[in-house]
Amino acid sequence: MGKLQAGKGFEELSSEEKAKVSRLSELCEQFIAADKYIFVTPLWNFSFPPVLKAYIDSVAVAGKSFKYTEQGPVGLLTDKKALHIQARGGIYSEGPAAEMEMGHRYLSIIMQFFGVPSFEGVFVEGHAAMPDKAQEIKEKAIARSKDLASTF
Ligand SMILES: Cc1cc2nc3c(=O)[nH]c(=O)nc-3n(C[C@H](O)[C@H](O)[C@H](O)COP(=O)(O)O)c2cc1C
Repeated sequence: MGKLQAGKGFEELSSEEKAKVSRLSELCEQFIAADKYIFVTPLWNFSFPPVLKAYIDSVAVAGKSFKYTEQGPVGLLTDKKALHIQARGGIYSEGPAAEMEMGHRYLSIIMQFFGVPSFEGVFVEGHAAMPDKAQEIKEKAIARSKDLASTF
């Protein structure tokens, strides 16, 4: 690995820092080598848990998942497919809370930014708001997942 873009060069880092930078690089290489992505998250305070944001920040690397051009940034992962399976205690696919959901929306923007042409969602939603319907809600999501699995 050569010079880092900003700050110290790799060789000037401590061994602990080198290990962290190498791990980030490994995660990014693994991500760009994959053909398909499946993100599985719960909705936490209208978004996904912070560890997924940290993961996205480790794979959003210029020259790897996107590049800068004179026309602006362009995604490089144009031959991938992505799926987000998200569990939400309430209902967000329609109705008054739809605008408040920021996890699936954010992932959708990141996939567009990376150039991923296909991004689908499976939502297990409303099981906390309607516990009597939880089983039915889960079964619907499983059926939709099986459907999608045949083409994904
Ligand atoms: C910290 C935390 C925040 C949550 N925030 C929301 C939320 O904003 N909207 C929502 O519908 N459900 C929310 N939930 C409920 C989760 O989405 C729910 O726990 C998840 O769908 C998994 O279901 P389960 O707990 O029955 O396994 C939250 C749960 C936790 C633990």
